[in-house]
Amino acid sequence: MAMEQVKKLIEKNRERFLEELFGLIRIPSVSACEANKPDMIRAAEYIRDMLLSGGASKAEVYQTAGHPIIYGEKLINPALPTVLVYGHYDVQPPEPLDQWISPPFEPEIRDGRIYARGADDDKGQLFMHLKAFEMMVSTNTLPCNIKFMIEGEEETGSVNIAAFCSGYKDMLRSDVILVSDTTMLSLSTPSITSGLRGLSYIQVEVEGPNRDLHSGLYGGVVYNPCNVLCEMIASLRDADGRIAVPGFYDAVMVPSDAEREKMAERPFDSEAYMKAIGVETLSFEKGFTAIESVGIRPTLDINGIWGGYTGEGAKTILPARATAKISMRLVPYQKAEETADMVIKHLISIAPSGVKVKAEYLHGGEAYVSPLDTPEYLAAEMAYEKVFGKKPIPVRSGGSIPIVSTFEKILGVKSILMGFGLESDAIHSPNENYPLDNLFKGMEAIPLYFRYYVQLKKG
Ligand code: BES
Ligand code: MN
Ligand code: MN
Repeated sequence: MAMEQVKKLIEKNRERFLEELFGLIRIPSVSACEANKPDMIRAAEYIRDMLLSGGASKAEVYQTAGHPIIYGEKLINPALPTVLVYGHYDVQPPEPLDQWISPPFEPEIRDGRIYARGADDDKGQLFMHLKAFEMMVSTNTLPCNIKFMIEGEEETGSVNIAAFCSGYKDMLRSDVILVSDTTMLSLSTPSITSGLRGLSYIQVEVEGPNRDLHSGLYGGVVYNPCNVLCEMIASLRDADGRIAVPGFYDAVMVPSDAEREKMAERPFDSEAYMKAIGVETLSFEKGFTAIESVGIRPTLDINGIWGGYTGEGAKTILPARATAKISMRLVPYQKAEETADMVIKHLISIAPSGVKVKAEYLHGGEAYVSPLDTPEYLAAEMAYEKVFGKKPIPVRSGGSIPIVSTFEKILGVKSILMGFGLESDAIHSPNENYPLDNLFKGMEAIPLYFRYYVQLKKG
């Protein structure tokens, strides 16, 4: 389908498209909360119905041990390539609620942006695919086979989709997996995500005395679990910003000079970057640039830490325990579970004998690197260039979609990360939003991708 035709169709259907997206957004599909289980089912059925009304010859909701997965397809000719579209309908919890200007599950358009939880991540982005599909079918221009696999557990670690992939390998057979769940630099500097970091998430608890103690009667002679946990975690990074866990960097990919030069070509305005998030200085690893530190270097961060008295006023206690949630962002070729084991062993080894350390691995996945010279990638490059008027640059993202490397392992298929979000979309934060421009440009780019991809494959 030609771009002009797609534009016209979007113009004509604009209000209906928005109303359908809003209907999906209004379902509070927070995968982390047990109480939202019925919403997960409703969201899955909503997407199934949209696939069917969009022209899928088959679309079903599959139960899993967790939240359902939607699979849909339209197969037109076994001799043609097959594109598998992946997305996720679950969202992050909306808290803190008092910081939202409009309620998180009541989408509102302000200044050309849709404000709501999931507006970008990933309902808005996944919706572009549903409508691109509908437009291709209705104009009889779907140029190849298409499959959809939409999950509801991405935000909680995609724990059940690996089993689904292993179980339905044949059904999921494809030549490329297309994912819109990442960002681009801006509408005027288009980019395609060329890699994702992996993730290894652990929870650590330090246990001390058998109850909270009076901090006067006992303070000074008993190990304080909160103090101990802070000291232990503080020792995990040295003054150069390197992670001080033995073996941590053993598997880390060392970039070549050429790769580093290529990465440095990406525009990066550190002043604007800092201003947008309200900080005055950046902190990153010695010997690396900010772009490298976020794109190809691993991290270790506390995501939450608690213990003792956190209520109003002052209470003088020596807490019985302290807990922290810690995540490591990983780069090729670090392994999620091995890294967790390494960090946990190290924490146990440095803990004083007066406390007990309990730690568990919550979830994770490996990093991913996209090809840059295959028809699968070049088609994306052509589609972005056509829609945004500039050749997109490849950018290694600091974010993670752990299931993407699992797809490569289980299904043996590479993913193309055709994201249309912006860093300013505030995903996972209050006032998440998605610009209408990005939504509609994405819808224009996707049918072009299909067209160019099939053209390039034909040679
Ligand atoms: N869509 C994001 C990941 C993302 C966003 C990658 C922007 C690149 C650019 C995804 O939904 C997400 O939030 N992933 C989590 C990991 C997951 C296991 C909770 C993340 O990166 O924290
Ligand atoms: Mn996402
Ligand atoms: Mn997310």
